Amino acid sequence: MSLAAAKGTRPQQAACCGAARRWRRRAPVAVHAAAQVQTASRLDAVEQAPPDPILGVSEAFKKDTSPDKLNLGVGAYRTEELQPYVLKVVRKAEERMLAKDENKEYLPIEGLASFRQATVELLLGADSPAIQEGRVAVLQSLSGTGSLRVGAEFIAKFMPGTVAYISRPTWGNHKNIFADAGVEWREYSYFDPESIGLDFEGMLADLQAAPDGSVVLLHGCAHNPTGVDPTKEQWARIADVLQAKGHLPFFDVAYQGFATGSLEEDAFAPRYFVERGLEFAVAQSYSKNLGLYAERVGAMSFVLSEAGAAQRVLSQMKRIARAIYSNPPVHGARIVAEVVGSEEMFGEWKGEMEMMAGRIKGVRQDLYDALVEINPDKDWSFVLKQIGMFTFTGMTPQQCDNMTNKWHVYMTKDGRLSLAGLSSAKAAYLARAIDDSVRNY
Ligand SMILES: Cc1ncc(COP(=O)(O)O)c(C=O)c1O
Repeated sequence: MSLAAAKGTRPQQAACCGAARRWRRRAPVAVHAAAQVQTASRLDAVEQAPPDPILGVSEAFKKDTSPDKLNLGVGAYRTEELQPYVLKVVRKAEERMLAKDENKEYLPIEGLASFRQATVELLLGADSPAIQEGRVAVLQSLSGTGSLRVGAEFIAKFMPGTVAYISRPTWGNHKNIFADAGVEWREYSYFDPESIGLDFEGMLADLQAAPDGSVVLLHGCAHNPTGVDPTKEQWARIADVLQAKGHLPFFDVAYQGFATGSLEEDAFAPRYFVERGLEFAVAQSYSKNLGLYAERVGAMSFVLSEAGAAQRVLSQMKRIARAIYSNPPVHGARIVAEVVGSEEMFGEWKGEMEMMAGRIKGVRQDLYDALVEINPDKDWSFVLKQIGMFTFTGMTPQQCDNMTNKWHVYMTKDGRLSLAGLSSAKAAYLARAIDDSVRNY
């Protein structure tokens, strides 16, 4: 029983809020006048939210008791034994941090200085003119999701009425993030189900048709869920259209190092946009490449054409962050700063990233070989063409249901499989499940 109900008083509420007004009307029904006993919650009208399309899959997986079960829903790296992996270099950094006995005081709102420097240098290269000229506003934020949210809030506040264009399909949370921040979103063509590749002409046509000055969300590398990235030549033509239309590119970089195994290669697109003189926004995450999923480490940056604008934009991002979560967490930021700040550990990180990306490439090949062996008449080449953590199979929701109900393979309903959760030992089993599902459903 709430305090307000126990005292028989009305809950305090803000008069401006629609939800609060509904509360007020329900309150007399919820409180038994004589006994002052609350018989039903004042929040009875709140409907159950649907399970998250990605994280809900892990919850269902945990309940399954089959020994064959495979969780290929969430994009999280697993070992060949299908266990979560803490990078050795992260453990080493943590040991060094422990020895330093640092305090837990609040970080500045913009985050840890050494982390912010390392993060922007990883993305753009230490010699980037944008960094040298102080034209980058960098805010340490809550991993990729929190950074995207700060960016979306910034757009809502300072670019009101601007529409954000996102790829069709995209990572399941993008729409929530923009919508909840009050930014209207629309889709641009990206994926061609026929070729299981990029619908490049469709993409360009949609960006061309978008109102001038729109925000265009781009996956920096290893597009989620399709695993299909533009080539370097295609990035050049995308930049042409963005520049001609005055659109603001907004990169989501959640997989730097995971597409090719190289941090530099995977940062091609944002570095190229700097060369082209484009201003852009960028959200970065260390969940995947440093395995810091639960530490919530990332950054929201704006690369601008002059230093004064960068300073002002940073001040406004700080204002936004202050009212949402105030200051970012310190532990993960220190890990990043330790790893990147030591040549030896930086080298070890690159080695482990290559190992993780290499293991995924290995199981990709194993899956392809097993599919060809089972059904040589079908073209499975898309499995090898796609990059990053995922393979986007084009399976229908019904086929996905068969994967889960019959084969205990947990995946998202859009037909995406996370190969980071597959082992070589289970590749043939997965191939049988896929073949059965596409053949019979
Ligand atoms: C494309 C994309 N962006 C952003 C994220 C954000 O992840 P996090 O908030 O864990 O950094 C993810 C995670 O799966 C993603 O796939």
